[in-house]
Formats: sequence, structure tokens, C-alpha cells
Amino acid sequence: MTTQAKRPLIGVFDSGFGGLTVLRELLHHLPGADFLYLGDTAHLPYGSKSQAAITRYTRAAIRELVSRGAELVVIACNTASALALPSLQDNAPVPLVGVVGPGADAAAAIVPPGSTVLVLATEGTCNSHAYAEACAARGLQAVEKPCPLFVPLVEEGWTDGPITEQIADVYLKEALAAALHPPLAIVLGCTHYPLLRPLLQREIAKLDDNIPIVDSAEATARHTATLLPSAAVPESSGATPATGEPTLVPTAAVHSDAEPHLHFLATDAAAKFQRFAPRFLGREIPTVELITLED
Ligand code: DGL
Repeated sequence: MTTQAKRPLIGVFDSGFGGLTVLRELLHHLPGADFLYLGDTAHLPYGSKSQAAITRYTRAAIRELVSRGAELVVIACNTASALALPSLQDNAPVPLVGVVGPGADAAAAIVPPGSTVLVLATEGTCNSHAYAEACAARGLQAVEKPCPLFVPLVEEGWTDGPITEQIADVYLKEALAAALHPPLAIVLGCTHYPLLRPLLQREIAKLDDNIPIVDSAEATARHTATLLPSAAVPESSGATPATGEPTLVPTAAVHSDAEPHLHFLATDAAAKFQRFAPRFLGREIPTVELITLED
């Protein structure tokens, strides 16, 4: 009889549905894990909120996920990763993984040292300069461009069409005009932007040579896989953990033939969450549990 290793439970936190793009990548890279996703839909959007509020909400969400058994929490929201994670990391009861460092790593992997990269993100993420700092730590210069209209456009399902093209065109032109040196990569620093990736790639091709686009969702999933190699697909677990972080489960591979167990929590609008989920996650979700987070 074979003994099966216990499947790790990964908590995934976001301001709402956008973090489902990160969960989608996590499911791909960590088929041997189970997932508990919390969307703070009562406070969505985070992109325009204060650091104090976002830190309060994120702390409460981590507490909730850990109380339900999460042994690692992915802060899938770029704005929460930028504004709350640095102050919560040291005293967290479980390891926390943000999306900013992996996003910067993904850019650094494809451009030469000293290059300029363009980061598209929310107002809050850009104002925090978290990406600029993470890029500087990897020898890159970042031009940070807030794109506040992208989140509502994606939530409306307007991921294509002339209006979104025009808006993207304006943002990209403004960003390129602000850059001292031509950017050699574009980092999608917001959970919603991966849904605009084909459109952005087309628009950038009209303005410039095809600048490659990297996605912090994919980079974060790869990084998380290095921390939980037993739950990862071999190509992900073989990657080098960033900045010497220890792996959490250096044991035999989890038997991953079973479907991952997924559970979804939302702080408001559970029906809307369920309706929006397939767009971000690429699959239907059966139920969403409505919860209240205590500050
Ligand atoms: N999840 C947010 C982020 O990645 C986008 C949506 C919001 O503003 O809450 O920055």
C-alpha cells in the first residue's frame, strides 16, 4: 500500500475576483495542492484605497485563511502585495508570497541588466513604488504607469474592442513618452491585466517592436511551486527558489491524480463572484461562502 503525502492547503487572497488569474496559474503549477481563495469583495477595489485600510483588510484576511488551515498564503493582489505585505511579512503566522517580487524576477529573466521595464498597475501600486524598488534590486529601472480604467473595463468584460484599444493606446503612449530609455519588457502588475494581454500585445506592436509582456500571476505561481515542490509539476519544482528562501515541503511528491479541492470565500456579492469567476479562472465554480472579516 502506498502512503500518500498530505496535500498542502494554500490560501489565496485578493481584493475580489482578479486574483483568480493567479489561482488559475497556481492550479497549473501546483496540481498537488488544495486551495482556499478569499476575495474581499466588500472592499473592492483596493487600487484607490489608503495603505492603512489595505493593511487592515489584508491582515484580517490572512488571519481568516490561516484559521481555516492555510499553511502558506499567496497575496495575489498586486496592490495588497505592494502596500500591505512589507509590514505584515515579519510577524505572519505562515509564509506569505506576494506578486511583486516574482513579477520583477520574470522581467529580470528576459532583459539584460540595466534595462528599463514598463510596469502597468493600479494607482496604489504605482504610488507605492514597490515595483520600482523590486526592479532596482534586480538591476533594472522601472517606469510605473497607473492604468485605472483597466480594472472596470475587465470587470465589464471589455477585454477587446475599439474603446479598450483606444484607452490602452493612450496609456501606452504616455508611458513610452515618460521613459528615458525604451522599455525592453512590460510587467502586468495587476490581477486583471492578464485578461488584456492579447490586446496589449497588439497595441504595443503598433507603437513599437513587439516588447515582450510578463505576467506577475504566472511568475508568482512558479515561485510558489519552488516553495512546495512536492505539490508542483516537475518543471516548476525544478526551478531555483528566489533569494534563497527555504522550501516548505521537501518530501516525496504528493499523489496529484486527485482533483484539487477548491473552496471560495467572499466578503460580499457572492452571486456576482460566482458569475465573474469563469472569466478569470477559466472554469465554473460551484459555491461561494459569504463571510465577514473582523478587523
Ligand atoms: N487586485 C488588484 C490588484 O492586483 C486590482 C483590483 C483592485 O483595485 O482591487 O492590484
